Amino acid sequence: MKPINVGLLGIGTVGGGTFTVLKRNEEEITRRAGRPIRITAVADKNLELARTVAGSGVRLTDDAFSVVADPEIDIVVELIGGYGVAKELVLKAIENGKHVVTANKALLAVHGNEIFAAAQSRGVMVAFEAAVAGGIPIIKALREGLSANRIQWVAGIINGTTNFILSEMRDKGLPFADVLKEAQALGYAEADPTFDIEGIDAAHKATIMSAIAFGVPMQFEAAHVEGITSLDSVDIAYAEQLGYRIKLLGISRMRTEGIELRVHPTLIPAKRLIANVEGAMNAVVVHGDAVGATLYYGKGAGAEPTASAVIADLVDVTRLHTADPEHRVPHLAFQPEQVRDLKV
Ligand code: HSE
Repeated sequence: MKPINVGLLGIGTVGGGTFTVLKRNEEEITRRAGRPIRITAVADKNLELARTVAGSGVRLTDDAFSVVADPEIDIVVELIGGYGVAKELVLKAIENGKHVVTANKALLAVHGNEIFAAAQSRGVMVAFEAAVAGGIPIIKALREGLSANRIQWVAGIINGTTNFILSEMRDKGLPFADVLKEAQALGYAEADPTFDIEGIDAAHKATIMSAIAFGVPMQFEAAHVEGITSLDSVDIAYAEQLGYRIKLLGISRMRTEGIELRVHPTLIPAKRLIANVEGAMNAVVVHGDAVGATLYYGKGAGAEPTASAVIADLVDVTRLHTADPEHRVPHLAFQPEQVRDLKV
């Protein structure tokens, strides 16, 4: 069967993981997608690295705009990150009729409404499982697995760096600054670790979950955001003595006044499952009216866990792209006409 052609923008850790997993599990992925998925073009500033990761038979370029304009490409995978050129490229890809798969939580939380509206009017899909909680399929759980429910709240440890820092401070009594350096050395932190420790990265992810759970636009600017920089090892030790753990939670809740969206350090009774999520792991609890509380746990970052989410989106988009267009299910966070008028 004719392969679906993918253009990859950015060949860092996740790009490398995507190549590895696509190759290793080619048979299963092809069966599930209904046709082969081929990365046929890669754009990266570092052509040497791109050559090493992609091997032969893939068009390599340092001009990402040539990939989003390539008529042979069906799906563009954006792994560049940030709001700058990534936004231009995603909008250009949509304008050119390409579906987009992205791991870019910052871009979606801040400019998602514009991007989804563009995709909607062009009739293409924007998929973003990798943007929240890495390998945990939380977007698909919210959108598909729990689609019968009225979601009441979503709360999660959705930043591995801060969870690692809090765990190390508690276990080893180390000062914040030392553990942050360790998290950076281990590659958990964002390029700018301020996004992690000030709660901004978690707020980006909470914004995206909130939009899907409650059918509202992205409202990052309405979030209350508080990071972990003012916490001391002493706070963590006192919490421990009182039978609590401190976790940085991203919380979104349906209230009568509207949707609540907040990120802040939270005291959780030590016997709760989520209080025992340690290190760089992520966990999300979703409460629906029919299902009750459900818990999702796994790796929130890293090459293969994030590639797992990117490829799941490639499989989804391939299935939907291949289906009769009349029966395509929109792959957006919300349909503008379905947006409820809720104040935040
Ligand atoms: N810096 C992020 C984290 C990476 O620590 O969770 C994954 O989004």
